[in-house]
This record gives sequence, C-alpha cells and structure tokens, in this order.
Amino acid sequence: MIVLGIESSCDETSAAIVKDGREVLSNVISSQVELHAPFGGVVPELAARRHIECIDSIVDEALQQANIHFSAIDAYAVANGPGLAGALLVGLNYAKALAYVNKKPLVGVHHIEGHVCANYLSGTLEPPFLSLVVSGGHTLLLAVEDYDTYRVVGSTRDDAAGEAFDKVARVLGLPYPGGPEIDRMAQRGCGTAIAFPRAKVDGFDFSFSGLKTAVVQHVAKGLNFSVEDIAASFQQAVVDVLVGRAIGACESEGYNQIALAGGVACNSGLRTAMEEACKQKNIKISMPKPIYCTDNAAIIASRGYYRIQNGYEDNLTLNAFPGRMV
Ligand code: KG4
Ligand code: ZN
Repeated sequence: MIVLGIESSCDETSAAIVKDGREVLSNVISSQVELHAPFGGVVPELAARRHIECIDSIVDEALQQANIHFSAIDAYAVANGPGLAGALLVGLNYAKALAYVNKKPLVGVHHIEGHVCANYLSGTLEPPFLSLVVSGGHTLLLAVEDYDTYRVVGSTRDDAAGEAFDKVARVLGLPYPGGPEIDRMAQRGCGTAIAFPRAKVDGFDFSFSGLKTAVVQHVAKGLNFSVEDIAASFQQAVVDVLVGRAIGACESEGYNQIALAGGVACNSGLRTAMEEACKQKNIKISMPKPIYCTDNAAIIASRGYYRIQNGYEDNLTLNAFPGRMV
C-alpha cells in the first residue's frame, strides 16, 4: 500500500510517499526556520501563510522524487493535531481535496503517534516497546503495546524538553532554534562544570521549569563560566533525567526495547547516554535517523498506513485538533 503523507502542524511543510508503512519513496521537507528566526520563535499566522504558499510544490516534488503519479497513491494521511490551528488546517484541507478528487481513503494522524513511527522507517523495530518522545511541545513516555495502542506512562508537568532547550538557548544568546545550538556548544563544554538541579517528580513524570530557572539565575549572576560549560551542564541535567526515567519506565512495563522519537532525539548527548545505559541494562535501543526525528511527513504516512491497516478511515468532515491529547 502506498500512502501520501502531509505534515503542516508547526513550521515545516512536508509531503512524503511511503510504501507499506516502512519504505520511504520520498520525503520532501520545507523548513520555515529563516522566516521565524528574527522573532525568536514560531509566529502562527506567518507559519500558516507559508504553508499555503508552498504546499502545492512540496506535494509535486514528493511525487516527482518517488517517480509516481497520483494514480499510484492508495491513501492520504495527514497530521490533524496537536499543533497550530491555522497551520494544521492548511495540510488537512489539502489532504481532503486530494482524497476527494482521487477517490481514495483519507486518514487523520496524531502528530505524536507519527513521531513514534520514525522508528519503523529507520529499522526493523516492532511493538511492544517503550517510547521516549521528546519534542518542542511534548515530553512523553509511551507504552506502545501494538501498532495501534499507545498508553501514557509519564509526561512533563511543565515545560517540554525541547522548549527548555530553546528557552535556555535564548538566555545564552544563541540563535533560534536553540536545541541544535546547545547540542553544538555542549560538545565543547564540560557537563559537570555546574551542578544544575535534576527535578524529582513522582512516578515517571518530568519537570524542566526549575532547571530552566536555575540556568536563568546562573546567567543573571554573571558568574565566570563559559557558555559552552553552561550548555553542557544544562544538557547533561536534561539527559540524566530523560535516560533515568526511560530506563525505569521500560523496566517497570516489562519491555526490553526503547525507541527514541521527536526533535530532541537528534541530541548527540542523549543518543550517546541512552545507548550506553541500554547496553548496561541489556535493553535494545532504537534511534531514528535525525531527519525522521524532527517534523516530516514520512512519519505521518507511516502512522497513516498502520491506522488504515487497523480499519480506521476518516471522511471529509475531519477537523483539526490543535490541543489533541495522546
Ligand atoms: O519534533 P520537533 O521537530 O517539533 C515538534 O513537534 O515540536 O521538535 C523540535 C524541537 C525543538 O525544540 C528543537 O530545539 C529540538 O527539537 N531539537 C533539539 C535538537 N534538534 C532539534 N534539541 C536538542 N538537541 C538537538 N540536536
Ligand atoms: Zn513534532
């Protein structure tokens, strides 16, 4: 089955063509980073307008790169939440039009469930497994029981991990988006230079606002530490908590594999620490290629494929759900 996926939930316009949920025939991504950089964050109205401007050519490009025509597409999958309302509606309405005109099924996809499917594109992983989803808007531990059953085991009580990276980067005067910048800086700093706090929250939940405040206060004091050391020490604090909780949740669920997902899963410190911790515990680790970690439509097409396989199909009344929960 060949699925055309569309993603427009935030600041990436993307279209992808994926065969049988795992084989990527094309994955075209147009990033709006330069558009939003002067504002230090995503401006929702600008994001929606840019999606409208480029979605046509992105879908065309996806078909061209896969070297196929609309007649070869069996179904259309689109991320319909969570995300920015105006941005989501662009991709949703475009996908509806394609499904209607080409008389093929349409399926709405939960953006976060899509992130988890990055692991199906990069390897041979199959459920059950524990997924650590770390993105700009979410920090979740999900028990993925089968291709269609996701259960929340832990989540953040305040900031998402990516949000903390972006806010700390801003305080350090690094450009938007901050996550990759902190990652780069951290590689030249010392992770034990400053003892930033690791929040202790019940169960498998997370909290990053205290850590963020500690960095802000540290910078405000004007102490004589390098930006590289602050970045490395902050990143180490985030990574310690993410790895510890993920291993704990995996063991508590009785699983033997962990799958990373979301933009923060690109982080080199997290990838190295997770690999080492899993090796020690004899847990299999799945880490998608970075291009499948950040927002893209191949993950949406993959999730769409598995939804259709499980008997789901939406119709043209499908709406966007900006605040959709897992
Ligand atoms: O999954 P994603 O592309 O979009 C959302 O669904 O939110 O994640 C974006 C987030 C941003 O906060 C960005 O700073 C962060 O992922 N990010 C990183 C890295 N690459 C992207 N954070 C830390 N280290 C990275 N290398
Ligand atoms: Zn995302």
